[in-house]
Amino acid sequence: MLSIGAGGVAVVTGAAGGIGLGMARAAAGRGMAVMLVDVDESRVAAAADGLAASGAGVAHRVVDVTDPAAMEKLAADVVNEFGRVDVVFLNAGIAAVSPITEMTVEDWHRVMDVDINSVFYGVRAFLPIMVEQGYGHLNATASANAWRGDMFQASYNVAKHGVAALMESVVLDLRALEIPVDASVLSPGPIATDLMTRSISGDEADLQEGHEMLNQGMDSDKVGKLTLDAIAEGRFWIFTHPAIFKTIRARMEHALTDGALPPEVDWDWEELFATS
Ligand SMILES: NC(=O)c1ccc[n+]([C@@H]2O[C@H](COP(=O)([O-])OP(=O)(O)OC[C@H]3O[C@@H](n4cnc5c(N)ncnc54)[C@H](O)[C@@H]3O)[C@@H](O)[C@H]2O)c1
Repeated sequence: MLSIGAGGVAVVTGAAGGIGLGMARAAAGRGMAVMLVDVDESRVAAAADGLAASGAGVAHRVVDVTDPAAMEKLAADVVNEFGRVDVVFLNAGIAAVSPITEMTVEDWHRVMDVDINSVFYGVRAFLPIMVEQGYGHLNATASANAWRGDMFQASYNVAKHGVAALMESVVLDLRALEIPVDASVLSPGPIATDLMTRSISGDEADLQEGHEMLNQGMDSDKVGKLTLDAIAEGRFWIFTHPAIFKTIRARMEHALTDGALPPEVDWDWEELFATS
């Protein structure tokens, strides 16, 4: 039986810091054992040590989520290490910032690999184990940008729309096949992390400005807790900032009526920060 508490096992990709570490801490806080996964060896080892010091059952692996064979090995490792898997957070991601006139084929493919293809590889690696167990939950991190267009982030916007569509497809297929495994998708608004300073492209001053914006956002530990709570409540669509709903509604309303872009496509940032 699925456990989002003591006896349960969580796997988190992109767990070396930011939202992933918030998820790992929240899972450990509920009494789950946690496998922290990241491509950054020293940071993920330090994050795992920090969490283990709190008394949680912790292991970590250095895995590049864009490698489907490595993801399959990870899934086998989790079962060897902990004997089961309850919740998998497919959270690793990267940003890329450039206008469409300057976007390179290399950056486009890199964002697709890390931000959307990896989610499919994760589902593909862990689902057979969950089917065999007869329980399990697959969560993926999309973005508020899964719900609108945003300037100068075409590849990221496409990948994040894809994550939402993929997870919806996953849950519909599982229901149709009467497989007792569940899924959900997290759409964060601005969260105080280093996502922007790790961006694979973009003007340095713009990235610094983006970084400062994000850092007025929500704390990653709060995101981790609200995500675990939402999964426990059986939510499929999980949002950190309901303040984005106004923009999403305006977009859909125009799409379904006059076919125009809404006059104001941007979020109300003040309201977003006030509700972080
Ligand atoms: N910070 C925000 O405001 C925000 C908003 C919406 C969505 N997100 C999404 O949240 C997720 C986590 O991002 P974050 O904000 O915590 O940023 P972050 O940069 O702190 O965390 C991302 C982690 O993913 C890891 N990673 C990158 N490529 C990887 C790979 N190939 N294999 C394994 N690990 C890899 C990085 O090393 C890093 O530790 C991402 O999917 C991001 O797109 C963030």
